[in-house]
Amino acid sequence: MPSSVSNHASISIQHARGAYPVIVGSQLLKDALSIISQELTLPPQIIVIVDSNIPEQLIFTLNKIFSQNQTTPIIIPIPGGENAKTFTTFIAVSEIILENHISRNTPIIAVGGGAIGDLAGFIAASLLRGLPLVHIPTTLLAMVDSSIGGKTAINSRHGKNLIGAIHQPQLVISDTQFLSSLPKRHFRAAYAEIVKYALIQNAPLFTQLDKNLNLTREHNENHIQELILASVRAKKQIVEADEFENNQRALLNLGHTFGHALETMHSQSDTLIHGEAVAIGIVLAFRFAHRINLIPKETLQRIVKHIHSAELPCNIPPDTSIDTMISFMKNDKKNLHHNISLILPHDIGHTSLHKNISPHDLNSFLSECIKQPLTPYALHHA
Ligand SMILES: NC(=O)c1ccc[n+]([C@@H]2O[C@H](COP(=O)([O-])OP(=O)(O)OC[C@H]3O[C@@H](n4cnc5c(N)ncnc54)[C@H](O)[C@@H]3O)[C@@H](O)[C@H]2O)c1
Repeated sequence: MPSSVSNHASISIQHARGAYPVIVGSQLLKDALSIISQELTLPPQIIVIVDSNIPEQLIFTLNKIFSQNQTTPIIIPIPGGENAKTFTTFIAVSEIILENHISRNTPIIAVGGGAIGDLAGFIAASLLRGLPLVHIPTTLLAMVDSSIGGKTAINSRHGKNLIGAIHQPQLVISDTQFLSSLPKRHFRAAYAEIVKYALIQNAPLFTQLDKNLNLTREHNENHIQELILASVRAKKQIVEADEFENNQRALLNLGHTFGHALETMHSQSDTLIHGEAVAIGIVLAFRFAHRINLIPKETLQRIVKHIHSAELPCNIPPDTSIDTMISFMKNDKKNLHHNISLILPHDIGHTSLHKNISPHDLNSFLSECIKQPLTPYALHHA
């Protein structure tokens, strides 16, 4: 890390082929090129896939920063959102990159939210069978989750993230200055992933989140940096133990089997974004766990109250077709032979994988959830 860079924290993530630092701080962008050149040998040409929805001024700054020291950036602006994760965009961006006669050490620098990170990561994994990858996440979700752990993917019409690879970055630079332009809705939605870490295996973190919800809602900068660091540490613990998702890493899917199905079904409208779908999915996982007597009603109440207070949705949109939702759930990557698997809680901070959930039981559970939506003040239906 260059000595000029102050006010940052760094966490190292280990994987089978090495390790990479995740640097978290504010105003890091101006030093991005020198931070990157400490981790990678920079060739004269670098590819920057940038989310075109970040403020124009920041894209201009990026261009200036990456044009120093005889480096020439090829800047490829793409709007974030799920449309970035299509075959069409993958092909178009890959062809632009290949036109520039890249070599095996040409780095792909992904500057954007989880969607741009997933697209750029999959491009880095695929072109020339693997290019160096640097993530500069610009959304809270990308800082706390998607830039860590090496999962990259694009979507199919059969479901989300069905085409992908594990390709570890060489560096992650999380600069919280990007968050000042992030729409509040995306900020709130990302919080669902932070709650997820606490619920999976960190009960003390959940107590902290509950206590500090006001600081979160106010977007207090120091507090947000603490949340990012706590999330990176939580994800580090899981991905280091199980890089290729053979067991423990599946726990990170708490709320995601329900959530991905809902997100895919509502992808053409603005009804749900990823974190909102995950928030509903977490509530559904706790509701299902209560139904099969894994957790008491008080635990479910505590979770619903927290998610509701974080201004996140708790209920399935009423126009959701349960049959379609279950058919999307059958496509989830955790499933074997089309039997649905779910990550379910046994307590706050304790979760495990449950295989062979009967589609028939799920159908009656989800139908009941639609008929009887929950609020923290009306949990008697739970
Ligand atoms: N790879 C993983 O491990 C992993 C983990 C979790 C989620 N994901 C994926 O991440 C995606 C969701 O990521 P996301 O929530 O960041 O959504 P996103 O990338 O779609 O970004 C949300 C919106 O904010 C815009 N945006 C980005 N940065 C901005 C900024 N600084 N200012 C203003 N606008 C900005 C984007 O253009 C987009 O419109 C999903 O596709 C999900 O599948 C991947």
